[in-house]
Amino acid sequence: MEQFPLPFPDEAALLVKRLEAAGHEAYVVGGCVRDALLGMQPHDWDLTTSASPDEVKAALSGLRILDTGLRHGTVTAVLERPYEITTFRVDGKYSDGRRPDTVRFSRRLEDDLSRRDFTVNAMAWSPMRGLVDLFGGMEDLHAGIIRCVGDPEQRMQEDALRVMRAVRFQSRLGFSIEPETRRAVADHVSRLSLVSPERIGSELRQIVAASFAARAIRENAALFHFLTPGCESERTLRALEAAEQTEIVFPASWADQSVRLALFFHRLGSSSQSKIQALRFSNELIDRVCQLVSLHDAALDLTRPAVKRWMAKLSLEQLRRLVKVKACLLAAQTEAKDSDRAVLTRFWDLVQQIRQEGAVCVRGDLAVHGKDLIAAGIAPGRHMGAILDALLDEVIEERTPNEPDALLRRAQELNGKGD
Ligand code: CTP
Repeated sequence: MEQFPLPFPDEAALLVKRLEAAGHEAYVVGGCVRDALLGMQPHDWDLTTSASPDEVKAALSGLRILDTGLRHGTVTAVLERPYEITTFRVDGKYSDGRRPDTVRFSRRLEDDLSRRDFTVNAMAWSPMRGLVDLFGGMEDLHAGIIRCVGDPEQRMQEDALRVMRAVRFQSRLGFSIEPETRRAVADHVSRLSLVSPERIGSELRQIVAASFAARAIRENAALFHFLTPGCESERTLRALEAAEQTEIVFPASWADQSVRLALFFHRLGSSSQSKIQALRFSNELIDRVCQLVSLHDAALDLTRPAVKRWMAKLSLEQLRRLVKVKACLLAAQTEAKDSDRAVLTRFWDLVQQIRQEGAVCVRGDLAVHGKDLIAAGIAPGRHMGAILDALLDEVIEERTPNEPDALLRRAQELNGKGD
């Protein structure tokens, strides 16, 4: 029997064993097999079985089973983590370009594998039966190819989201899309109007944040021209390449997602906000990306007060992202000068230095607060707010030291002036 390339989770093994013991076939299938064969940790383990949902429930009696998608033959076994278990099925007609109108259950694994999108996603594995690879998925994994199972036109026609899935796998894995599949991708781009903005946004976000984004975008320009015209420019792609080079294979961390998206959208300028909002990213991500886009070409003044003002305006993380966005855009310029790069390095050094000093950047850092001014006889209200702002300015500019006595003295003087 073939060895599974990664530790096979005990819970998945238990589910397969119980289903097999009841006389059914059962396998893990799809994305988890693909990722495991690539040596990557799968994020979930899906099972496929010859058993009908009722038979699954009977075979797994005593376990917690939820009816999560009975119409499509799916139940979820909840152990330490959830496992979707879906009956082998043949999809009926797809009239909405997204989901089959009906599904028919089958007793043959072959039927189930042949309805799947790409060869690398159409493999099944079981500890008892080993790998089932009917469409050359393993060969395509080795060669680095995304290829539809069967007729690419039909596969894309069935579910328009597959257009983006193909590009997402290319971007994530660094694979090439096989020519006929690529043609089908290009031919079906406009059918993405059938797909919800959330789904498109989620795929787009993953495509742009993955390790091989620039090449995936370059080779599928028609898709991006349709979805986000203006974002597929050569300069944008070179900036994304610069971002890719600074990251090793897989840390598409949250922070880098914002950097990648800001680079991707930066050319849209003020119209980027509505475009990004329409893709229904989380509000936090929208805010971060829009801020980075709006500041991507703001000048960085290297005086200490100017750096402190940046530190007051942006969190340290966001400032780091902004420096990274600027560095990637600079790397994408053929005429970039060493002096421009030096400004970024110097700016970031100053940020670190000022942070280590614990220097004052915001009102809360001042050695006096509103209550101290009240105690010194200054009336609360707008005027006091203005005094605190003025104190902050003076401390940032290093004209007044951040010490209670000096600040209170200045506050009194300013208070006198304001009367
Ligand atoms: N699938 C498909 N067509 C789709 C979506 C999914 O054929 N439009 C099949 C593929 O076999 C896929 C499996 O269903 O591998 C599971 O889909 P999903 O969980 O969406 O994606 P994964 O391939 O697991 O990849 P990832 O989880 O990384 O998105």
